[in-house]
Amino acid sequence: MRWLDPGEGGPAVEVLDQTLLPQHRRSVVCRDIPTLAEAIRSLRVRGAPALGVTGAYGVALGALVDGDAQGAAATLSAQRPTAVNLGWGCRQVLAAGPGPAVMLAAARRLDADNTAACQAMGRHGAALLGDHAKVLTHCNTGTLACQGIGSAFGVVRTAFEAGNLGHLWVDETRPLLQGARLTAYEASVLDIPHSLIVDGAAGALFAAGRVDAVLVGADRIAANGDTANKVGTATLAVLAHHHDVAFYVVAPTSTIDPAAADGAAIDIEYRDAEEVRTAVGIAVLAPATTPVWNPAFDVTPAALITAIVTERGVVRPPFQTGLATAAAAG
Ligand code: MRU
Repeated sequence: MRWLDPGEGGPAVEVLDQTLLPQHRRSVVCRDIPTLAEAIRSLRVRGAPALGVTGAYGVALGALVDGDAQGAAATLSAQRPTAVNLGWGCRQVLAAGPGPAVMLAAARRLDADNTAACQAMGRHGAALLGDHAKVLTHCNTGTLACQGIGSAFGVVRTAFEAGNLGHLWVDETRPLLQGARLTAYEASVLDIPHSLIVDGAAGALFAAGRVDAVLVGADRIAANGDTANKVGTATLAVLAHHHDVAFYVVAPTSTIDPAAADGAAIDIEYRDAEEVRTAVGIAVLAPATTPVWNPAFDVTPAALITAIVTERGVVRPPFQTGLATAAAAG
Protein backbone atom coordinates (compact mmCIF):
# COMPACT_ATOMS: atom_id res chain seq x y z
CA MET A 1 0.00 0.00 0.00
CA ARG A 2 1.10 3.58 -0.38
CA TRP A 3 0.04 7.09 0.41
CA LEU A 4 -1.16 9.19 -2.53
CA ASP A 5 -0.43 12.89 -2.37
CA PRO A 6 -2.86 15.36 -4.02
CA GLY A 7 -0.59 15.48 -7.11
CA GLU A 8 -1.08 11.71 -7.53
CA GLY A 9 -4.87 11.75 -7.12
CA GLY A 10 -4.92 11.84 -3.31
CA PRO A 11 -5.19 12.40 -0.50
CA ALA A 12 -5.81 8.68 -0.35
CA VAL A 13 -4.37 5.34 0.66
CA GLU A 14 -3.79 3.09 -2.33
CA VAL A 15 -4.02 -0.61 -1.60
CA LEU A 16 -2.95 -3.44 -3.92
CA ASP A 17 -5.95 -5.78 -3.66
CA GLN A 18 -4.35 -8.97 -2.33
CA THR A 19 -7.61 -10.92 -2.58
CA LEU A 20 -7.13 -10.93 -6.38
CA LEU A 21 -3.55 -12.19 -6.40
CA PRO A 22 -1.92 -13.97 -8.10
CA GLN A 23 -4.30 -13.71 -11.10
CA HIS A 24 -4.75 -9.94 -11.10
CA ARG A 25 -2.78 -6.92 -9.87
CA ARG A 26 -5.43 -4.30 -9.19
CA SER A 27 -5.44 -1.48 -6.69
CA VAL A 28 -8.19 0.08 -4.61
CA VAL A 29 -7.88 3.80 -3.92
CA CYS A 30 -9.28 4.50 -0.46
CA ARG A 31 -10.29 8.15 -0.16
CA ASP A 32 -12.32 7.74 3.01
CA ILE A 33 -12.24 5.72 6.20
CA PRO A 34 -15.16 3.35 5.42
CA THR A 35 -13.45 2.25 2.18
CA LEU A 36 -10.13 1.74 3.96
CA ALA A 37 -11.82 -0.11 6.82
CA GLU A 38 -13.45 -2.48 4.32
CA ALA A 39 -10.10 -3.06 2.60
CA ILE A 40 -8.59 -4.06 5.96
CA ARG A 41 -11.52 -6.22 7.06
CA SER A 42 -11.64 -8.12 3.77
CA LEU A 43 -7.84 -8.63 3.67
CA ARG A 44 -7.24 -6.56 0.55
CA VAL A 45 -4.39 -5.27 2.69
CA ARG A 46 -3.16 -7.62 5.39
CA GLY A 47 -0.19 -8.83 7.43
CA ALA A 48 0.56 -7.25 10.78
CA PRO A 49 3.37 -4.81 9.81
CA ALA A 50 1.56 -3.65 6.65
CA LEU A 51 -1.55 -3.11 8.76
CA GLY A 52 0.50 -0.95 11.12
CA VAL A 53 1.58 1.29 8.25
CA THR A 54 -1.95 1.30 6.80
CA GLY A 55 -3.42 2.33 10.15
CA ALA A 56 -0.86 5.11 10.43
CA TYR A 57 -1.72 6.57 7.00
CA GLY A 58 -5.41 5.94 7.70
CA VAL A 59 -5.37 8.17 10.77
CA ALA A 60 -3.67 10.92 8.73
CA LEU A 61 -6.36 10.43 6.07
CA GLY A 62 -9.11 10.74 8.68
CA ALA A 63 -7.53 13.94 9.98
CA LEU A 64 -7.31 15.37 6.45
CA VAL A 65 -10.69 14.44 4.99
CA ASP A 66 -12.97 14.36 8.07
CA GLY A 67 -11.01 16.34 10.65
CA ASP A 68 -11.47 13.24 12.82
CA ALA A 69 -8.26 11.39 13.51
CA GLN A 70 -9.65 9.83 16.70
CA GLY A 71 -12.67 8.41 14.89
CA ALA A 72 -10.47 7.03 12.12
CA ALA A 73 -8.20 5.34 14.67
CA ALA A 74 -11.16 3.77 16.48
CA THR A 75 -12.78 2.49 13.28
CA LEU A 76 -9.60 1.14 11.70
CA SER A 77 -8.22 -0.50 14.86
CA ALA A 78 -11.46 -2.45 15.32
CA GLN A 79 -11.20 -4.23 11.94
CA ARG A 80 -8.56 -6.84 12.88
CA PRO A 81 -8.42 -7.53 16.64
CA THR A 82 -5.37 -9.83 16.78
CA ALA A 83 -2.87 -7.85 14.67
CA VAL A 84 -1.51 -5.52 17.35
CA ASN A 85 0.42 -3.43 14.82
CA LEU A 86 -2.82 -1.98 13.45
CA GLY A 87 -3.83 -0.23 16.67
CA TRP A 88 -0.18 0.57 17.38
CA GLY A 89 0.23 2.37 14.03
CA CYS A 90 -2.95 4.35 14.65
CA ARG A 91 -1.84 5.34 18.16
CA GLN A 92 1.64 6.38 17.02
CA VAL A 93 0.19 8.88 14.57
CA LEU A 94 -2.49 10.14 16.97
CA ALA A 95 0.22 10.79 19.54
CA ALA A 96 2.25 12.79 17.00
CA GLY A 97 -0.64 15.19 16.37
CA PRO A 98 -2.59 17.35 16.43
CA GLY A 99 -2.80 18.50 12.83
CA PRO A 100 -3.00 16.53 9.59
CA ALA A 101 0.41 17.66 8.29
CA VAL A 102 2.19 16.54 11.45
CA MET A 103 0.27 13.26 11.43
CA LEU A 104 1.10 12.55 7.80
CA ALA A 105 4.77 13.22 8.47
CA ALA A 106 4.60 10.79 11.41
CA ALA A 107 2.99 8.13 9.19
CA ARG A 108 5.71 8.56 6.57
CA ARG A 109 8.38 8.14 9.26
CA LEU A 110 6.70 5.02 10.59
CA ASP A 111 6.56 3.62 7.04
CA ALA A 112 10.28 4.25 6.51
CA ASP A 113 11.20 2.84 9.94
CA ASN A 114 9.19 -0.29 9.17
CA THR A 115 11.06 -0.82 5.90
CA ALA A 116 14.39 -0.43 7.70
CA ALA A 117 13.22 -2.87 10.39
CA CYS A 118 12.57 -5.50 7.71
CA GLN A 119 16.15 -5.17 6.42
CA ALA A 120 17.53 -5.57 9.93
CA MET A 121 15.36 -8.61 10.68
CA GLY A 122 16.54 -10.14 7.43
CA ARG A 123 20.18 -9.76 8.49
CA HIS A 124 19.69 -11.02 12.06
CA GLY A 125 17.56 -13.96 10.95
CA ALA A 126 19.75 -15.07 8.04
CA ALA A 127 22.72 -15.27 10.43
CA LEU A 128 20.85 -17.96 12.40
CA LEU A 129 20.41 -20.32 9.47
CA GLY A 130 22.82 -23.13 8.70
CA ASP A 131 24.41 -23.54 5.28
CA HIS A 132 21.85 -23.92 2.50
CA ALA A 133 19.03 -24.40 4.97
CA LYS A 134 15.73 -25.85 3.86
CA VAL A 135 13.13 -23.53 5.40
CA LEU A 136 9.42 -24.09 5.96
CA THR A 137 7.15 -21.05 6.26
CA HIS A 138 3.46 -20.42 6.83
CA CYS A 139 1.09 -17.73 5.58
CA ASN A 140 2.61 -14.69 3.86
CA THR A 141 5.26 -12.55 5.52
CA GLY A 142 6.84 -10.86 2.51
CA THR A 143 6.53 -7.43 0.95
CA LEU A 144 2.78 -7.83 0.69
CA ALA A 145 2.46 -8.34 4.45
CA CYS A 146 5.16 -5.96 5.61
CA GLN A 147 5.88 -3.27 3.00
CA GLY A 148 9.65 -3.81 3.19
CA ILE A 149 11.36 -7.11 2.27
CA GLY A 150 9.23 -8.84 4.87
CA SER A 151 9.76 -10.46 8.25
CA ALA A 152 10.15 -14.26 8.01
CA PHE A 153 10.18 -14.03 4.22
CA GLY A 154 12.73 -11.21 4.48
CA VAL A 155 15.06 -13.66 6.22
CA VAL A 156 14.51 -16.19 3.43
CA ARG A 157 15.15 -13.52 0.83
CA THR A 158 18.32 -12.32 2.56
CA ALA A 159 19.65 -15.89 2.77
CA PHE A 160 18.75 -16.48 -0.87
CA GLU A 161 20.50 -13.30 -2.03
CA ALA A 162 23.59 -14.38 -0.08
CA GLY A 163 23.53 -17.70 -1.99
CA ASN A 164 22.74 -19.59 1.20
CA LEU A 165 19.17 -20.85 0.88
CA GLY A 166 18.64 -24.56 0.31
CA HIS A 167 14.92 -24.50 -0.41
CA LEU A 168 11.72 -22.74 0.66
CA TRP A 169 8.74 -24.90 1.58
CA VAL A 170 5.50 -22.92 1.42
CA ASP A 171 2.44 -24.06 3.41
CA GLU A 172 -0.67 -23.29 1.35
CA THR A 173 -2.31 -21.80 4.50
CA ARG A 174 -5.98 -22.63 4.47
CA PRO A 175 -8.54 -21.17 4.47
CA LEU A 176 -7.51 -18.05 2.57
CA LEU A 177 -4.37 -19.53 1.01
CA GLN A 178 -1.97 -16.71 1.76
CA GLY A 179 0.89 -19.18 1.28
CA ALA A 180 -0.27 -20.48 -2.10
CA ARG A 181 -1.54 -17.19 -3.49
CA LEU A 182 0.91 -14.70 -2.00
CA THR A 183 4.12 -16.34 -0.72
CA ALA A 184 4.47 -18.62 -3.74
CA TYR A 185 3.83 -15.52 -5.90
CA GLU A 186 6.52 -13.47 -4.16
CA ALA A 187 8.98 -16.40 -4.32
CA SER A 188 8.23 -16.87 -8.04
CA VAL A 189 8.80 -13.20 -8.81
CA LEU A 190 12.17 -13.33 -7.02
CA ASP A 191 13.18 -16.71 -8.50
CA ILE A 192 13.55 -18.19 -5.02
CA PRO A 193 13.55 -22.01 -5.27
CA HIS A 194 10.34 -23.09 -3.58
CA SER A 195 7.67 -25.79 -3.43
CA LEU A 196 4.08 -25.54 -2.26
CA ILE A 197 2.65 -28.12 0.14
CA VAL A 198 -0.83 -28.60 1.55
CA ASP A 199 -0.88 -27.75 5.25
CA GLY A 200 -1.49 -31.40 6.11
CA ALA A 201 1.77 -32.47 4.41
CA ALA A 202 3.98 -30.73 6.97
CA GLY A 203 4.26 -33.81 9.21
CA ALA A 204 5.43 -35.96 6.32
CA LEU A 205 7.91 -33.27 5.27
CA PHE A 206 9.49 -33.17 8.74
CA ALA A 207 9.51 -36.98 8.95
CA ALA A 208 11.39 -37.09 5.64
CA GLY A 209 14.08 -34.84 7.15
CA ARG A 210 13.45 -32.12 4.61
CA VAL A 211 13.09 -29.15 7.01
CA ASP A 212 16.10 -27.52 8.72
CA ALA A 213 14.26 -24.51 10.18
CA VAL A 214 10.77 -23.04 10.44
CA LEU A 215 10.41 -19.27 9.96
CA VAL A 216 7.09 -17.57 10.69
CA GLY A 217 5.86 -14.05 11.35
CA ALA A 218 3.64 -12.87 14.18
CA ASP A 219 0.49 -10.86 14.70
CA ARG A 220 0.99 -10.36 18.44
CA ILE A 221 3.73 -11.46 20.81
CA ALA A 222 2.77 -11.56 24.49
CA ALA A 223 5.18 -10.42 27.20
CA ASN A 224 6.22 -14.03 27.94
CA GLY A 225 6.86 -14.85 24.27
CA ASP A 226 3.61 -16.70 23.49
CA THR A 227 2.97 -15.77 19.86
CA ALA A 228 -0.23 -15.39 17.85
CA ASN A 229 0.16 -15.99 14.14
CA LYS A 230 -1.88 -17.42 11.27
CA VAL A 231 -3.82 -20.50 12.27
CA GLY A 232 -1.68 -23.57 11.63
CA THR A 233 1.48 -22.00 13.02
CA ALA A 234 1.19 -23.77 16.40
CA THR A 235 0.93 -27.12 14.59
CA LEU A 236 4.28 -26.45 12.90
CA ALA A 237 5.82 -25.53 16.25
CA VAL A 238 4.76 -28.86 17.76
CA LEU A 239 6.15 -30.71 14.74
CA ALA A 240 9.42 -28.77 14.87
CA HIS A 241 9.79 -29.55 18.58
CA HIS A 242 9.11 -33.25 17.97
CA HIS A 243 11.68 -33.39 15.17
CA ASP A 244 14.25 -31.21 16.97
CA VAL A 245 14.11 -28.52 14.29
CA ALA A 246 14.60 -24.80 15.08
CA PHE A 247 11.39 -22.74 15.14
CA TYR A 248 11.97 -19.00 14.68
CA VAL A 249 9.44 -16.16 14.99
CA VAL A 250 10.45 -13.07 13.01
CA ALA A 251 8.61 -9.82 13.83
CA PRO A 252 9.31 -6.14 14.42
CA THR A 253 9.18 -4.88 17.99
CA SER A 254 5.89 -3.16 17.12
CA THR A 255 4.36 -6.66 17.28
CA ILE A 256 5.32 -7.11 20.95
CA ASP A 257 2.39 -6.41 23.25
CA PRO A 258 3.70 -5.89 26.80
CA ALA A 259 0.08 -5.46 27.97
CA ALA A 260 -0.68 -9.11 27.13
CA ALA A 261 0.96 -11.14 29.91
CA ASP A 262 0.67 -14.39 27.94
CA GLY A 263 -1.17 -16.00 25.06
CA ALA A 264 -4.42 -16.29 27.01
CA ALA A 265 -4.68 -12.49 26.94
CA ILE A 266 -4.54 -12.32 23.13
CA ASP A 267 -7.85 -11.60 21.42
CA ILE A 268 -8.22 -14.11 18.58
CA GLU A 269 -10.09 -13.02 15.45
CA TYR A 270 -12.81 -15.41 14.24
CA ARG A 271 -13.87 -15.13 10.62
CA ASP A 272 -16.80 -16.05 8.42
CA ALA A 273 -17.73 -19.72 7.96
CA GLU A 274 -17.84 -19.27 4.19
CA GLU A 275 -14.04 -18.93 4.16
CA VAL A 276 -13.87 -22.61 5.16
CA ARG A 277 -16.89 -23.92 3.26
CA THR A 278 -15.44 -22.56 0.00
CA ALA A 279 -12.04 -22.24 -1.62
CA VAL A 280 -11.61 -18.44 -1.49
CA GLY A 281 -15.19 -18.14 -2.70
CA ILE A 282 -14.41 -19.87 -6.00
CA ALA A 283 -15.44 -23.48 -5.36
CA VAL A 284 -17.90 -24.97 -2.89
CA LEU A 285 -16.14 -27.46 -0.60
CA ALA A 286 -18.80 -28.27 1.99
CA PRO A 287 -22.58 -28.15 2.43
CA ALA A 288 -23.83 -24.62 3.08
CA THR A 289 -25.33 -25.79 6.39
CA THR A 290 -22.17 -27.43 7.77
CA PRO A 291 -21.13 -25.65 10.97
CA VAL A 292 -17.61 -24.22 10.93
CA TRP A 293 -15.05 -23.08 13.53
CA ASN A 294 -12.75 -20.55 11.87
CA PRO A 295 -10.14 -18.90 14.08
CA ALA A 296 -7.84 -16.78 11.90
CA PHE A 297 -4.92 -17.19 14.33
CA ASP A 298 -3.54 -19.58 16.90
CA VAL A 299 -1.09 -19.11 19.75
CA THR A 300 2.26 -20.87 19.79
CA PRO A 301 3.48 -21.36 23.37
CA ALA A 302 6.79 -19.66 24.10
CA ALA A 303 8.23 -23.03 25.16
CA LEU A 304 8.13 -24.19 21.52
CA ILE A 305 9.95 -21.13 20.12
CA THR A 306 13.73 -21.35 19.60
CA ALA A 307 14.22 -17.58 19.21
CA ILE A 308 12.36 -14.39 18.31
CA VAL A 309 14.10 -12.23 15.70
CA THR A 310 13.38 -8.50 15.87
CA GLU A 311 14.98 -5.52 14.14
CA ARG A 312 16.91 -4.92 17.38
CA GLY A 313 18.41 -8.41 17.50
CA VAL A 314 17.64 -11.99 18.45
CA VAL A 315 15.79 -12.70 21.70
CA ARG A 316 16.33 -16.14 23.26
CA PRO A 317 14.32 -17.93 25.98
CA PRO A 318 13.27 -17.09 28.59
CA PHE A 319 11.78 -14.28 26.55
CA GLN A 320 10.26 -11.98 29.19
CA THR A 321 13.29 -9.74 29.86
CA GLY A 322 14.65 -9.73 26.32
CA LEU A 323 11.31 -8.83 24.80
CA ALA A 324 10.72 -6.07 27.36
CA THR A 325 14.18 -4.63 26.63
CA ALA A 326 13.68 -4.83 22.85
CA ALA A 327 10.23 -3.24 23.04
CA ALA A 328 11.44 -0.41 25.29
CA ALA A 329 14.49 0.41 23.17
CA GLY A 330 12.50 2.31 20.52
O1 MRU B 1 -4.89 -12.80 8.20
P1 MRU B 1 -3.59 -12.26 7.67
O2 MRU B 1 -3.32 -12.66 6.27
O3 MRU B 1 -3.46 -10.78 7.90
O4 MRU B 1 -2.49 -12.98 8.58
C1 MRU B 1 -1.15 -12.65 8.41
C2 MRU B 1 -0.24 -13.47 9.23
O5 MRU B 1 -0.66 -14.29 10.03
C3 MRU B 1 1.20 -13.18 9.12
O6 MRU B 1 1.96 -14.33 9.36
C4 MRU B 1 1.56 -12.13 10.18
O7 MRU B 1 0.77 -10.99 10.06
C5 MRU B 1 2.96 -11.74 10.12
S1 MRU B 1 3.26 -10.81 8.65
C6 MRU B 1 4.85 -10.45 8.70
